[in-house]
Amino acid sequence: MSLIELDRVTTIFGKAPREALARLRQGADKKTLLDETGHVVGLHDVSLSIEAGEIFVIMGLSGSGKSTLVRHINRLVDPTDGEVRIDGTNILSLSRAELIRLRRKRITMVFQRFGLLPHRQVIENVAYGLAIHGVPKKERLARAREWIERVSLSGYETHYPDQLSGGMQQRVGLARALAADTDIILMDEAFSALDPLIRSELQDEVVNLQRSTGKTVVFITHDLDEALRLADRIAVLRDGALVQVGTPADILLKPADAYVESFVRNVNRARALTVETLMKPPALRLTAESIGEALAAMRRMRTDVGYVVDDGRFAGVVTKDVLERAANEQGRTTAASEVAEHLPSATTACAIETVLPALLEHQHPIPIVDERGDFAGVLRPEDVGEMLGSDSPSKEEEQAESPAEALKHAQPAA
Ligand SMILES: Nc1ncnc2c1ncn2[C@@H]1O[C@H](COP(=O)(O)OP(=O)(O)O)[C@@H](O)[C@H]1O
Ligand SMILES: [Mg+2]
Repeated sequence: MSLIELDRVTTIFGKAPREALARLRQGADKKTLLDETGHVVGLHDVSLSIEAGEIFVIMGLSGSGKSTLVRHINRLVDPTDGEVRIDGTNILSLSRAELIRLRRKRITMVFQRFGLLPHRQVIENVAYGLAIHGVPKKERLARAREWIERVSLSGYETHYPDQLSGGMQQRVGLARALAADTDIILMDEAFSALDPLIRSELQDEVVNLQRSTGKTVVFITHDLDEALRLADRIAVLRDGALVQVGTPADILLKPADAYVESFVRNVNRARALTVETLMKPPALRLTAESIGEALAAMRRMRTDVGYVVDDGRFAGVVTKDVLERAANEQGRTTAASEVAEHLPSATTACAIETVLPALLEHQHPIPIVDERGDFAGVLRPEDVGEMLGSDSPSKEEEQAESPAEALKHAQPAA
């Protein structure tokens, strides 16, 4: 069971939505329905699941139904047909009291225009949600102060919203949502009104805060770059219908149709994708073995390269040649880690772009470690070449470069 589930949700705006629904079921499209009945399709048969603790991004052109979708989660909009579940409970069946509880305890929303109270100080704005919850004044001010610090606004507690820049006002909006201490945060185009630089700062902030709090964030944007920076998963909407749900890598490398492809066409994939998305398990992982044992393992696995791992940590690369030479000079019982070469390694979270220079120089797989320094896998030049060279499936073959060519042409960032 997922935290949030939309199950075959169709939502039609207009006077007689159920009649319009029947027309839709008979095959009328959004435009026909509007032209002939004056009804607007908000969502059309949308089913999706959002997991606890993920940043789930909803993307699509203006009017595609993003806001409508997210408003179902706190029941600002109810579907014409279908179910919306939180923790398995159909929230359409909640009593009034239960709905109020859901909205206060589980869900907060961050708005595009910040939604701050203009005549209240920053600290009062942040504490506002807690006041509604009946948290005593002393405690709510203390908690508000803590979140103000977390979003780097210490010193501005007694300022008024209009004394702050847009970016700072949205930090207040973020602090307010976090202080309310709900497990779900909905953000509808929350950064769209901000300058690009401020915007990317706040994107990083959201990722960091989400990772440290484990909250579930449902984030709406029409901007693919923003989606790629933030998302664990992305849902793409078109005319109220769900076109694709997937990881950033799925969306970039396997766009479901021409609409999704039009979003991703000009994205620099090496910048947008992390090493983790293309990483492969290594052919041979050698765990604290002697040179003799390592050579035997290589023969068994029919490979000339091994990755030495010592206590989980990546300790270097060995080739058959190096091991054979070392066996003659130092003896077969010497630890393989002693003769391992320390190739440049990269971490799983690096953009592929940052590894391009090393890949070009070495032309063989680059070892990858996770954030704790443990060996996680290898990044192979051929896989990176293929990613850079392959256009999305619907493009013509004639444009494709060979993977090796593509790797050579890829310009790493200075
Ligand atoms: N309350 C409403 N009444 C009538 N039509 C609406 C209402 N809310 C949204 N719509 C329509 O539903 C469609 C989806 O809108 P919306 O969810 O706001 O899209 P987005 O957020 O992706 O820009 C649009 O065609 C919009 O005009
Ligand atoms: Mg919207």
